[in-house]
Amino acid sequence: MSNDAFRLISPSGNELELPTHTGTTGPDVVDIGRLYREQGVFTYDPGFVATGSCKSDITFIDGEEGVLMYRGYPVEQLAAHSNFIEVCYLLLYGELPNTAELDAFDSTIRRHTMLNEGMLKFFNGFRYDAHPMAMLSAVVGSMSAYYHDTTDVHNPEHRDIFSHRILAKLPTIAAAAYKLNSGQPFVHPRNDLGYCENLLQMFFAVPAEPYEMDTVAAEALDLLFILHADHEQNCSTSTVRMAGSSGANPYSAIAAGISALWGPAHGGANEAVLEMLKEIGDTSQIKKYVAKAKDKDDPFRLMGFGHRVYKNFDPRATIIRDMCHKVIASLDGRDAPMFELALELEQVALKDDYFIEKNLYPNVDFYSGIIYRALGIPTSMFTVMFALGRSVGWCAHWREMISDPHAKISRPRQLYTGAAKRDYIAVEKR
Ligand code: CMC
Repeated sequence: MSNDAFRLISPSGNELELPTHTGTTGPDVVDIGRLYREQGVFTYDPGFVATGSCKSDITFIDGEEGVLMYRGYPVEQLAAHSNFIEVCYLLLYGELPNTAELDAFDSTIRRHTMLNEGMLKFFNGFRYDAHPMAMLSAVVGSMSAYYHDTTDVHNPEHRDIFSHRILAKLPTIAAAAYKLNSGQPFVHPRNDLGYCENLLQMFFAVPAEPYEMDTVAAEALDLLFILHADHEQNCSTSTVRMAGSSGANPYSAIAAGISALWGPAHGGANEAVLEMLKEIGDTSQIKKYVAKAKDKDDPFRLMGFGHRVYKNFDPRATIIRDMCHKVIASLDGRDAPMFELALELEQVALKDDYFIEKNLYPNVDFYSGIIYRALGIPTSMFTVMFALGRSVGWCAHWREMISDPHAKISRPRQLYTGAAKRDYIAVEKR
């Protein structure tokens, strides 16, 4: 929908009227499609700070007000009343399922959990200490070799099969990576268990004794996966959209998204938070580290603080903080010192002028790592856990992008700052 035009006046006095579009909610966007054609200039916005890359019906964020909604439903309501599998259905298909739809979807995901035996053999080839994110990205990429016959991106049935396979098999791939790192035998999925219960048994069951389900752990994981399920056009999701925009095999696009997520400024932050808390060690060191974070000449940043979009608070962090208390309480104080250090650090930073002026608040990853650690999940697996939650968001965005009849290959332009034209000089004359 368009409303008033946006007027631009070029240095030579040419006036250009650019249409604006109004979404359901959120700021209008200026449609600059004609700018280059009519004025011969590109826009310049490194990091896409003020650029909308697409239209989307999936997720809405208001960074000033701390609002996050999936398909119009506030994340607080979904966290309180829904579960991850239902949220997956909502993100993929746009509406909450009725009972029959939810049962059918849940059953489909449970029945796609096994890996092809050949795919499992890849894990024999990785070093025992390979980073699980590297294994996740590589094995997901290999799915394009296994399922080439069902990757016609224009076939809606193939798009469904792809999404179901990603959701169902990622936990099994993650568990295989975890077991390789821990030197234990691989544990097969159990389709009688729910998504999080199955994940926990694949991680923690061993052949030597029966596995006892930890219901608080399953509840905490389900909540974390809901909170991580989607976050509109974040770095990894934009990567999936961009890779997929060429019509590439969608498993390769997801593998690219996993690689993008790994960076410490994105999903890698939960791992970085724990490393930081270990380095800080105890509350007596907090002041020193907060000073380091404020020092322009010191590359140290307070990991788990700040967000590109949320400038008041991250609603996911508020929800997760309560779950953190519940998980820590269920452990008879085992991980309490780390949690207390995190809470104290949070308080010091929140009262500090530097963090107040720059609107730096704890983000979702400040707490998620503490919960994962309390559940016995090793630090190197934290970003893998984020990937499990976000996998549905990646699939939903890829589906939206590929089924849009007006979709174009993503191809940004640039401001060239290299050498001007010059003539080649033969090697002996240089
Ligand atoms: N500690 C200290 N200073 C910070 C921090 C921090 N964590 N975050 C931002 N700043 C400062 C930054 O130095 C800059 O200062 P100045 O204006 O003087 O140059 C100012 O705040 C603005 O920061 P920015 O890097 O320009 O902001 P951005 O929107 O580009 O970056 C961010 C957002 C999340 C990458 C950044 O806040 C950061 O690196 N945080 C730590 C990593 C982290 O926790 N990432 C997880 C994000 S949530 C999970 C996800 O969605 O992926």
